[in-house]
Amino acid sequence: MSNNEIIFKIFESDFYISEMVKIWDEGNKWANWIKQLSQRYNLGKTVLDVPCGVGRVSYFLVNEGFNVTGIDISERMLEIAKKNVTGAKFVKGDMRRLSDTVKDEKYDIVLNLFNSLGYYNDEDDMDILFSIRTVTKGMAIVNLDSRDYLIYNLPDVRYSYVPPYMVVDISRFEPTTSRVEVVRKYLDKKGNEVGSLEYSQRYYSLHEVVKMAKRAGFRVEDILSGYSWKPYEIGDPQMTLVLSPS
Ligand SMILES: C[S@@+](CC[C@H](N)C(=O)[O-])C[C@H]1O[C@@H](n2cnc3c(N)ncnc32)[C@H](O)[C@@H]1O
Repeated sequence: MSNNEIIFKIFESDFYISEMVKIWDEGNKWANWIKQLSQRYNLGKTVLDVPCGVGRVSYFLVNEGFNVTGIDISERMLEIAKKNVTGAKFVKGDMRRLSDTVKDEKYDIVLNLFNSLGYYNDEDDMDILFSIRTVTKGMAIVNLDSRDYLIYNLPDVRYSYVPPYMVVDISRFEPTTSRVEVVRKYLDKKGNEVGSLEYSQRYYSLHEVVKMAKRAGFRVEDILSGYSWKPYEIGDPQMTLVLSPS
């Protein structure tokens, strides 16, 4: 199976969906931050949330009065988003080719949150940024885990509880590709393995994403730490780039 096929399988799995649902409430923090962003930069109310996943950010943005469209490649993610979020429009599409889905539409705010680059190869990530650029009329927000934090802080083995599963991640950073190779095992309450996923994800340092964003036709307005207004520093786990069309 190719890496792309594995990636699609993961996004359709119950295991992965449980993980997305677990962090639903964090969507409220993002929505508050986006509201402040729109006031700070005097942006309009149309938002494209791509990829939207289960709709955890879209949900809170709708409550804040934004006019939200969510795009994702996973039909299962979209089903959950449609069920949980009324008042937003959800459409199946590929973030590498957004204009195929939204035609000539352009949005005041385009969100690419929660580490949504790095699933495919570097050319695909460039396509994602070009594609986001074509649909942005105000600002685009790209939020990623920082490679520089990750290489010093990634545990070899990590346990977490994602109801109803105990999850064990065995991770290895491959320095020649800057990808983390992950074997993720799901255990039931008795500790029996009930499923597993294997995938790899590319992680970027800030200077690489800045270069790619500029190549895609963006100007970098700000670089922040997660959903805060603290300027990003090298030891921060997440970097959030605020981009405008150049
Ligand atoms: C880590 S989740 C992030 C979802 C959302 N941004 C959030 O913060 O909850 C990644 C999402 O990317 C979607 N995805 C992966 N490849 C995609 C593609 N080529 N086009 C659109 N969505 C894609 C997956 O289906 C999944 O829902």
